[in-house]
Amino acid sequence: MMDMKNQVVLDWNQYVALARQTVAEGCVLLENKDQALPLVKDEKVAVFGRIQNHYYKSGTGSGGMVNVSKVYGIVDGLRESGQVILDEELIRIYQDWEETHPFNEGEGWGNEPWCQEEMELTDEVVEAAGKRSETAIVIIGRTAGEDKDASDTKGSYQLTDVEEDLLTKVRKNFDKMIVLLNVGGLLDMSFTDRYQPEAVMYVWQGGMVGGLGTADVLTGAVSPSGHLTDTIAYKVADYPSTPYFGDPDKNYYSEDIYVGYRYFETFAKNSVRYPFGYGLSYTTFEKSVVVFSNESEKQQFTLHVTVSNVGLKKGKDVVQVYVEAPQGKLGKADKVLVGFAKTKELAPGESEEVEITVPYSRFASYDDSGITGHAYAFVLEAGTYHVFAGADVRSAECAGTFELADDLVVEQLCSALAPVEAFDRMKAAETENGYQVMMEAAPHHASNEKQRRQDYLPQEIRQTMGTHILSDVADGSIGMDKFISELTDDDLTCIIRGEGMGSSLVTPGTAAAFGGVSKSLINRHGIPSVCCSDGPSGMRLDCGVKAFSLPNGTIIGCTFNTELVKELYTCTGYEMIAQKVDCLLGPGMNIHRHPLNGRNFEYFSEDPYVTGCFAGAMLEGLHAAGVTGAAKHFCANNQEMRRHFADPVVSERALREIYLKGFEMIVRSGAADAIMTTYGPVNGVWTAGNYDLCTTILREEWGFKGIVMTDWWASINERGQEPDKINFAAMARAQNDIYMVCPDGSTNASGDNTAAALVDGRLKRSELQRNAANICGFVLHTEAMRRAMGCPTEVSIINRPAEPDDVNLSEVEFVRLDGDYELRLDTKKSKAGVNYVLPFDVQKKGIYEIELIGSSDLSELAQMPCTLYYTNIPILSFTFHGTNGEDMVIKKEFDLHTRFSVMRLNVGKNGLHLKQIRFRYLREGKIWD
Ligand code: BGC
Repeated sequence: MMDMKNQVVLDWNQYVALARQTVAEGCVLLENKDQALPLVKDEKVAVFGRIQNHYYKSGTGSGGMVNVSKVYGIVDGLRESGQVILDEELIRIYQDWEETHPFNEGEGWGNEPWCQEEMELTDEVVEAAGKRSETAIVIIGRTAGEDKDASDTKGSYQLTDVEEDLLTKVRKNFDKMIVLLNVGGLLDMSFTDRYQPEAVMYVWQGGMVGGLGTADVLTGAVSPSGHLTDTIAYKVADYPSTPYFGDPDKNYYSEDIYVGYRYFETFAKNSVRYPFGYGLSYTTFEKSVVVFSNESEKQQFTLHVTVSNVGLKKGKDVVQVYVEAPQGKLGKADKVLVGFAKTKELAPGESEEVEITVPYSRFASYDDSGITGHAYAFVLEAGTYHVFAGADVRSAECAGTFELADDLVVEQLCSALAPVEAFDRMKAAETENGYQVMMEAAPHHASNEKQRRQDYLPQEIRQTMGTHILSDVADGSIGMDKFISELTDDDLTCIIRGEGMGSSLVTPGTAAAFGGVSKSLINRHGIPSVCCSDGPSGMRLDCGVKAFSLPNGTIIGCTFNTELVKELYTCTGYEMIAQKVDCLLGPGMNIHRHPLNGRNFEYFSEDPYVTGCFAGAMLEGLHAAGVTGAAKHFCANNQEMRRHFADPVVSERALREIYLKGFEMIVRSGAADAIMTTYGPVNGVWTAGNYDLCTTILREEWGFKGIVMTDWWASINERGQEPDKINFAAMARAQNDIYMVCPDGSTNASGDNTAAALVDGRLKRSELQRNAANICGFVLHTEAMRRAMGCPTEVSIINRPAEPDDVNLSEVEFVRLDGDYELRLDTKKSKAGVNYVLPFDVQKKGIYEIELIGSSDLSELAQMPCTLYYTNIPILSFTFHGTNGEDMVIKKEFDLHTRFSVMRLNVGKNGLHLKQIRFRYLREGKIWD
């Protein structure tokens, strides 16, 4: 990137190179017998599995809906490398089969099947392939996503019968079998016992260039350096959260802090197939600790580790540092990750010394019962601390020890977000042969959020008249308080409404607009509309515009390379600026509490430190470009099953050490300025109205100064109330500043209770003013503000391949639809791939007739489909056939029920002359809102 004043260049080649490198560094090699990998020059390779034609770039739902024109799969990557000889006959067999067994895209939101039908292979086909090639690569794929979890069944976590059959036959006919897992979450790995593949690699979901990065590893252009960010156990039943995971109503977090390796290393080492942090390389490294210094006065220790490449290939290594704390009174996990560092690429014989400094606070425990005598404090109990360094949690070796003569209180807090009901949780009991699980009652107590709110009510700013605009705050002419004083009560009730999806105030097809959402806020107070777009794997532009689809959260975590991720996200930041998107709805940073969680692909790890590090890297990358992201979902969104309702019942200790920790890291480091709460509750209070979460912990303890937004159409409550979608007063009081999303920011179209609560005193003006100050403070630092002030950053994108059907978003204008609408098209024939974007501001909701008129000179047998997309989901198809030049009319009906309805009509084949698109109001539809 070349930085000039307000002008930047985004080099697409560099963007691709960084994404490709991220994929290569995130692939985790688990088995590699007899150096099966890398493939050697001109090795003959047969690729099995239909995923060779459908690489999963990501999971589904908001975290995956990035439009791309091409996804580079693993075969593309191998072909591009020119290193191996692919069995083209087998490739053709798969392609021919696809003709009659097309990839099942599913229908609608989150409804894609998570496993595709696999081709059944005859013995003859595999035998013949075995004669043509020496090596078989079998690719197994799964996707997953929002609103549904995976299951421990065939076709989900387990292999299907056809996949088992495929592995059986390939094993019989090939001496070398390499299995690649193109998945978002973990799979049952028992197949490795049954078939003993020579190599096994998790290649995860690597975005649109995923296949290229994977091939770089397969061919040895890059030596693998990815490490597991989760523990792979033998069975789903081995994970301690399994008894409660997926409960539709209450999810007891009885494993407490013992999540992932914290559980397995303490209690169940034998249940682990591959430990946390594990990952092979093509070369061999030796690590030696050259310095261990405990700096007790600074409450930190430092390690210097020399890493030497003593093998024959170049490669990068990761040094992981763990601490074993004394069990004390609280009980501890056997080991906790406290630091890591990745080396540069080391040539054979080359060494590098890495330095890792670890503050004690990183491994302090939270006493939620007072058992140590330090209730509600982060504390280090007296005793011996062992520090380990190594390549994974299991093999790390002792690098040093230090003693604490007395308990050390690192931070005294107050109890917040505690459970209110009794349940039992795990604790480690020391025995002669290690630790045993014992259960103890988790502390619970009624919380005092209401009193806290009363005690900390902000001072009201006296309302004044004035004509200032937000840029007056930006240039220092007035302070924020003066600006806020000029907002009327109506302005204050509007500013907490986010508008969307697909608001006409911002880039079409994006998730929301906020800040300037009414005429008064925009014109009178000069607050620009800020644009938010999904999500953690790249920009989701529902009107069909293409964007860069990025490697997903898990593969990013497995790189253990924060610098790389930062650089990658700076490119994303520039790409966002080019589309006037100011805030990405990511990173996703929930904890992989259970391997079957549907959205694990978006998140990084079972470990909070890894999570905090990579979320921080993504945000810092975005900030370097001048934009930002909303870290989500705050907090404990660890299952998709009934995510709007299922209540995690979780101890304060587990919340603070595991589920809040990553968020705390990015807030305290200054990386976070926007946070999204969840759909559901935590310990009985929905996060969108949760005072302890959004105020006591986030702002008072951690010092957060930014904005908090709800998840889209989330429910809100306060303790004891039924949740609903209109209790904005509770939301505002908690300092969840913005409700996402309302059909119209300027009117009370959803019937929220803000104005009424202001009148009857349930909500104080001062509280709304505080929300407004949070929002305006955030807006001040956005690219939207720079645009409003006439000094936007200009991004020129170079080396991006032309997208023939791309829409120029700056030319898209919203059309008011209050009855009929007609679009006459030009006289030219419509080319295949052409898109007509129809961005409506629907004033009259209801059932519309959609009529297309077209003709074609082709013969009657020719078929030319057109597909109508609504928020990028195909909703209607119109198939024209040859008409010998005569006009053909096709009519369909659709219920247009949301205000902003960005539609897109895509022409599927050449030969059609589309002449007219007409929308006609027919009658009232279903009442949706
Ligand atoms: C998801 C969020 C997402 C939002 C907007 C919700 O369904 O949970 O992660 O950002 O939709 O698309």
